[in-house]
Amino acid sequence: MIHARITGTGSCLPGDPVSNLALVARGVDTSDEWIVERTGIRTRHLASAGTATSDLALEASRMAIAAAKLAPADIDLIIVATSTPDFIFPSTACLLQAKLGIKGGAAFDVQAVCTGFIYALATADAMIKTGMHKKALVVGAEVFSRILDWRDRGTCVLFGDGAGAVVLEASDKPGIRASSLHADGSQAGILCVPGQVAGGVVSGDPFLRMDGQAVFKLAVKVLDEVARETAAKANLPLEKIDWLIPHQANVRILNSTAKKLGLPTDHLIVTVDRHGNTSAASIPLALDHAIRAGRVKPGHQVMLEGVGGGFTWGAVLVEM
Ligand code: ACO
Repeated sequence: MIHARITGTGSCLPGDPVSNLALVARGVDTSDEWIVERTGIRTRHLASAGTATSDLALEASRMAIAAAKLAPADIDLIIVATSTPDFIFPSTACLLQAKLGIKGGAAFDVQAVCTGFIYALATADAMIKTGMHKKALVVGAEVFSRILDWRDRGTCVLFGDGAGAVVLEASDKPGIRASSLHADGSQAGILCVPGQVAGGVVSGDPFLRMDGQAVFKLAVKVLDEVARETAAKANLPLEKIDWLIPHQANVRILNSTAKKLGLPTDHLIVTVDRHGNTSAASIPLALDHAIRAGRVKPGHQVMLEGVGGGFTWGAVLVEM
């Protein structure tokens, strides 16, 4: 049987950290106390005007390819998860492929908002297991700051920009052990950018809008359910999960997810305090930071799980 293993990771955060007080200085009607108490966020990174999602994706990808001890030319599949692509088309994956100086392999984007990386990883896993591809680059990359309304203090303080990438290779050892993907389009309105694109122009509201409390409740429920579902598919008792890496939306969501699953918080990877919510980038960013900090190690059982607009949610259980 063909398995798919993560053999390298990388990440990229643009510029210096931007503190909560720096947002106040920019004119956002908020305070460090409010943001820290409600979300746990202390800093985030914001891309400069000339930086595109594909630029952040490129840096993260180069690191991941180097960590896998491969060359860009070895990659035969690129999937980029993003809701802030450089263009309507071509896909950011095609732009990334060109920036890596390669051609010929498959390249496409996945749009599942904050669950995008989980959707992309599960898709790449399936494509490797069928034998269709051998060495995939799976990226989550966002410049979410471009779709924030800086007058809406209920949303603009939550998000940041960044990218994370993994190399996934065909192997005779596991690997990705189980995946679960879900969506409920009837909840589209609780987290959305309602603007419509026509003739290359956004008409209507071009900014992210969110019903924070509805998102919070749904997130805590589905993150619990999907981790249990995915662990059960792999016959892994929950207490054998070495690390839980949920989408980094809010420290309160992370802590209540770990608590519901009966996992001690020292099995939880938290980066949202430093990165904010980087949507599709948050999970691979957190994974890369945890690996480079020597926390996630070979052989560890790692539950990656996401939730986001759509509404979408999913999990991938990985043996590192
Ligand atoms: N600074 C100061 N005050 C604020 C801010 C702010 N940044 N934002 C809102 N407030 C005020 C509101 O105006 C309101 O004031 P009022 O009582 O005078 O009307 C008060 O704080 C409470 O507002 P709520 O929206 O009810 O605050 P809540 O406790 O629900 O916290 C939050 C808001 C942090 C957004 C919370 O609902 C949440 O974390 N939801 C999850 C959403 C999330 O993480 N989304 C990320 C995207 S989705 C995803 O990634 C899955």
